[in-house]
Amino acid sequence: MDDPLLSAALAARRHAFAPFSKFQVGAALQDSDGRIHTGCNVENATYGLTLCAERVAVFKAISEGVRQFRRIAVAADTEDLTPPCGACRQILWEFCGDLEILLVNPRGKTETCRLRELFPKPFDVRYL
Ligand code: THU
Repeated sequence: MDDPLLSAALAARRHAFAPFSKFQVGAALQDSDGRIHTGCNVENATYGLTLCAERVAVFKAISEGVRQFRRIAVAADTEDLTPPCGACRQILWEFCGDLEILLVNPRGKTETCRLRELFPKPFDVRYL
């Protein structure tokens, strides 16, 4: 894996706590200084409390004072590469804007897009 962001997302996936769905996801968010903040999905017996890998990565970074982001990589074991869910698109938009998104699976298949393509008409603070 050439891009360290892809390797970081695949490595983070190995920490997934997903005993209920067995669907393991990793995320790696790169900030404007190049630093990488990782996350994995963390499930809960009260299913609705589950946090996706992307949101864990964003909240970890935000909680450390980081506010500018470049790219995020999302890793899951699917052939049709797994994109961020709707809730994560909203959070990514609010904290990261039109982020570059890299999708990857453990066999090295990758795909790149921008958040705007996945989330063309976001609700955000401008409407409040
Ligand atoms: N999941 C993520 O972590 N990120 C996504 O973008 C899609 C879904 C997790 C949540 C849950 O733990 C499992 O995958 C199945 O939905």
